[in-house]
Amino acid sequence: MTAIPAAEAHLVLSSPAAYEAAIDRLRAASGAYYAGENSPLDDASYDALRLAVLAWEAAHPGEVPESPTGLVADGAAPEGDVAHTTRLLSLDNVFGPEQLLAWDASLRRRLGREVAGGYTVEPKLDGAAIAARYRDGKLVRVVTRGDGTHGEDVSHVVGSVVGLPEVLAEPVTFEVRGEVLFTHEQFETAQEVRAAHGGTPFANPRNAVAGTLRAKDRPYRLEMTFWAYGAVDLDGGSFLPAGGTHAEVLAAVAAAGVRTTADTPAGLRVVDTIAEAQAGVDAIGALRAGLPFGIDGVVVKANSAAEQAEAGLGSRFPYWAIAYKLSAVERQTVLREVVWEVGRTGVLAPTALLDAVEIDGSTVSRATLHNPADIARRDLHLGDTVTVYKAGDIIPRVQAPVVELRPDGAVPVPLPAACPNCGGDIDKSQERWRCAKGAGCALAPLVEYAAGRDVLDIDGLGRTYVKALIDAGLVADVADLFTLTEEQLTVAAGSARRGAKLAEQFELARSRPLSRVFCALGIRGTGRRMSRRLAAHFGTMEAIRAASAEELLAVEGIGPEKAPVVVAELAALAPVVDKLIAAGVNMTEPERAAQPAGEPGADGAAPAAGPLAGRTVVVTGKMTGRLDGYGRSQMNELIERAGGRAGSGVNARTTYLVSAPSATGKPSSKAVAAEKLGVEVLTPEAFADLVADYLG
Ligand code: IVH
Repeated sequence: MTAIPAAEAHLVLSSPAAYEAAIDRLRAASGAYYAGENSPLDDASYDALRLAVLAWEAAHPGEVPESPTGLVADGAAPEGDVAHTTRLLSLDNVFGPEQLLAWDASLRRRLGREVAGGYTVEPKLDGAAIAARYRDGKLVRVVTRGDGTHGEDVSHVVGSVVGLPEVLAEPVTFEVRGEVLFTHEQFETAQEVRAAHGGTPFANPRNAVAGTLRAKDRPYRLEMTFWAYGAVDLDGGSFLPAGGTHAEVLAAVAAAGVRTTADTPAGLRVVDTIAEAQAGVDAIGALRAGLPFGIDGVVVKANSAAEQAEAGLGSRFPYWAIAYKLSAVERQTVLREVVWEVGRTGVLAPTALLDAVEIDGSTVSRATLHNPADIARRDLHLGDTVTVYKAGDIIPRVQAPVVELRPDGAVPVPLPAACPNCGGDIDKSQERWRCAKGAGCALAPLVEYAAGRDVLDIDGLGRTYVKALIDAGLVADVADLFTLTEEQLTVAAGSARRGAKLAEQFELARSRPLSRVFCALGIRGTGRRMSRRLAAHFGTMEAIRAASAEELLAVEGIGPEKAPVVVAELAALAPVVDKLIAAGVNMTEPERAAQPAGEPGADGAAPAAGPLAGRTVVVTGKMTGRLDGYGRSQMNELIERAGGRAGSGVNARTTYLVSAPSATGKPSSKAVAAEKLGVEVLTPEAFADLVADYLG
């Protein structure tokens, strides 16, 4: 399969006919977008096509009098009939550091000197622009951008946009301008609500906004979110600070009760130099994957209103602001097939096989899907063009089909009629389907996982020996591992030396903490982290077995859906647990067992009061020194033992980032994010000092 290159990067138009065709495609994409339909081009392809058109126009001056590229929204936006107070402009784009410097040089040329008032750096929110007018503290009108001079009245959304209150605390009059969008969570809810009303799915959050703004008579309301990035006075009023800065304008808007880009988790930075602005762009870029909404770039603006006025406006965009586009994290590609695999807990996991497409620097040809109900809700058909989202290290996910591009005769994604592993019945009682044999179906992956790192840690028991033991009928469940004799291990491993080594490993495995033994059972929803929480909470297997679903709710991360599943599956595994006990396998969590409730632990340092109590720690890079060889899972275990919480991404709740210096000397994206948020960064050595009592 050939990968569709990101952004069709080096597209060159070679003839007037190619130019005309490109213009038609741009118009069709913009037209569909503004009609609230799903666009036939993804953003990256749209940007590349637009750049190619601009390049052609630059090379053929005078031949293109009516090019749409000179118009806001390529001239495709519906005009609407509400006149804007002042024009609502778009932004010019840059795609890298040199281009940002070139924009800065052009700004300085226009000013005839250096930029004295500094710059602001804020996220470029990926939604739709609106102007919202407040008169005497009441939200009286919401208008789309339209063609920049006239927009459509979409006041029907008043009351369903978080961040855009209907009434302000003070009776102030002004107009805010900003972006309305669906957060990831709001988008998922919107898809569900829409499906429940028999509507076709939205291809992505941005299309969902365009569609929702235009749909005035839907029988349901969808919640969206707003952040302002600018404001103007209305009716000759003077609410806004005159002659101040962009940051001050946003602060005034926020003080009035409307949320601004400064309130987003990415924030607003005020900096002095363009080099610092570039650092701000990098910092926001590093936060992107963890943001709860989509951004497609970072906006850099001259902060001083006086310098903005001096730099002036072009026909489409101001000269004092620029959008620094980030690589596309969402692309369109074709869904060819869905394969189903049975995991260690017996759950049937669907994976989408896609035409390979490059997203955010890597080639994506597989993406996870959740479960049959989710596939049905998303209305996915084989052959569908789908939007796929991937940012940073996250696993690619299929967002939705582009229903307009569905081929004739496409069939809905078929769901398995029998277990794809053993051919037996499927238990469909939960949203996630499971082989009726449960963890007993996919015995090989279960035993491999149980014997693996950070679970029972049976060094040397890899896939081949596991298979040999199962094929020989010696292992029918996890507990059977502990009944194996050295002779049987010798036969499976093919040598007495290896057999003896394995027997030694099994002896060690017998005394692993309860958290790991519990994890080895393969109960749905109880991976390493959840097993640690359960073991820390209950202390003994006996206590977990005796717990009701209600009692399990006290464990963080166990909700009303998961609790009864854990109870039922643990009860069904009673013979396996009994066999483990009979084989002398440890059934207690050491630190917890040594610490009766309310008293300090045996070593005087109970985990709840450990050095990391109440702290969230994120780890990045390869550990060194005393932590040499600690993988991610072992670090998480260590953090939790010391009373802390292990986080995966740096955010406002992070206390420490443990960061090993990278080989290249370039700070990791997590380190950049920590710097931006003021999170304390510790070297592995400093962290080892902090948790010294818990090492080893
Ligand atoms: S400033 C006069 N700031 O991006 C300057 N725009 O591609 C007007 N956008 O039309 C825009 N986040 O709808 C600005 N922080 C931000 C933004 C932002 C998103 C949108 C806006 C604009 C489009 C241009």
